[in-house]
Amino acid sequence: MDKIVIEGNKPLSGSVEVSGAKNAVLPIMTAALIPVGKSKIYRVPELKDTRTMIRLLEIIGAKVSLNENTIEIDSTTVNNPEAPYDLVKTMRASFYVLGPLMARFGRVKVSLPGGCAWGPRPVDFHLKGLEKLGAKLTLKDGYILAEADQLKGNEIRFEFPSVGATGNLAMAAVTAKGTTILHNAAREPEIVQLCEFLNKMGARISGIGTTTIIIDGVNDLHAADIEVISDRIEAGTFLIAGALLGKITVNRVELKHLDAVLGKLKEAGCKIIVGNASVTVTPPDKLKPVDITTAVYPGFPTDLQAQWVALMSLAAGSSMITDTVYHDRFSHIPELSRLGANIRVDKNTAFVRGVDSLAGAPVMSTDIRASASLIIAGLAASGKTQVSRVYHIDRGYEHIEEKFRVLGAQISRETE
Ligand code: UD1
Repeated sequence: MDKIVIEGNKPLSGSVEVSGAKNAVLPIMTAALIPVGKSKIYRVPELKDTRTMIRLLEIIGAKVSLNENTIEIDSTTVNNPEAPYDLVKTMRASFYVLGPLMARFGRVKVSLPGGCAWGPRPVDFHLKGLEKLGAKLTLKDGYILAEADQLKGNEIRFEFPSVGATGNLAMAAVTAKGTTILHNAAREPEIVQLCEFLNKMGARISGIGTTTIIIDGVNDLHAADIEVISDRIEAGTFLIAGALLGKITVNRVELKHLDAVLGKLKEAGCKIIVGNASVTVTPPDKLKPVDITTAVYPGFPTDLQAQWVALMSLAAGSSMITDTVYHDRFSHIPELSRLGANIRVDKNTAFVRGVDSLAGAPVMSTDIRASASLIIAGLAASGKTQVSRVYHIDRGYEHIEEKFRVLGAQISRETE
């Protein structure tokens, strides 16, 4: 297994380009299963999760070809509407085949994802929503079997604006009979792009980007092409690293997706200069402590919470970081403590007392964003930090150590 080795406390400078968004490309890849034909997706990041999704689509029967950052998905031969446990347990986003396969075949067998590094992460909204569209659901051997002769439009109100449930049900409803209205829907840019892609394929979705998404069912969709939006979480990760370690420019970003994080970086005393599709961050002499509360888009993303905790570990004072989206997403805290951070967790809040410096140590990553947080802390710590279980970072960050190396970091990968 690989580990990332960092010789820390070296200043960063220069510029880095953001890749296509992981959380956008995964549902888009599954949406390509709905029509019969060849869809092309451009700017696909080279990630473990995109490779896992390719494998899943192939198991389902699609022909997938990957050429650099372009994927072509030929869904003509799709014949096996099933997502096996082996894949779903390694990548929850596999559950995104539920809606598209229902839309295409009216039946699907998908393994329940089970627990993950930060809590149970249920899928009840996806399932209740599908039942509202008329599907009959059965649980057998850990798999959900869903069936319907013809899905029928209905009104679905989410208890929480779930990203995955909004995406899955939007995809299921595109070929349902009549109109589906999703109330309290997710507004995340990745869901916006998914709905835009569905419309490109002939779906009739309105209210995209609002909390009420209206889907008028059509008979079928046709294949289409799309370029994936920039990864706002990757952009935020580099900006937070810059806030600690030096003036850096992050290129090819979607500025409007970064409002929450840029606002917080300014509060922390960073100088922020925005260009056309770029942001330059300059760290302050003294980093101010800034509280955050994660929230659904356009709030501060839970996917940047761990990185923000790493930043605040070195602030001049105390801060409170509350996660309202995932209440127990704090597996990075004991590892950050190994580097000398002073953090206490109570319920869904991390209380961070800034320290003057961190010192390198071996640490272990437990999920994608926790890994990013440990890399940022390791880059700021004196001496050597080794981050093991690096496959987590490979799930969600394209060539992360190369990108940090270009910025001047001493970071490399070793096989354990
Ligand atoms: C997606 C993102 C993930 C991000 C999260 C929140 C992808 C592939 N992953 O995950 O990176 O951290 O959004 O922005 O896009 N919930 C239920 N029942 C459900 C579904 C969700 O109770 O059926 C709860 C969850 O436990 C959580 C909240 O709703 O507390 C939000 O989850 P959700 O938005 O669904 O996250 P994901 O789509 O799994």
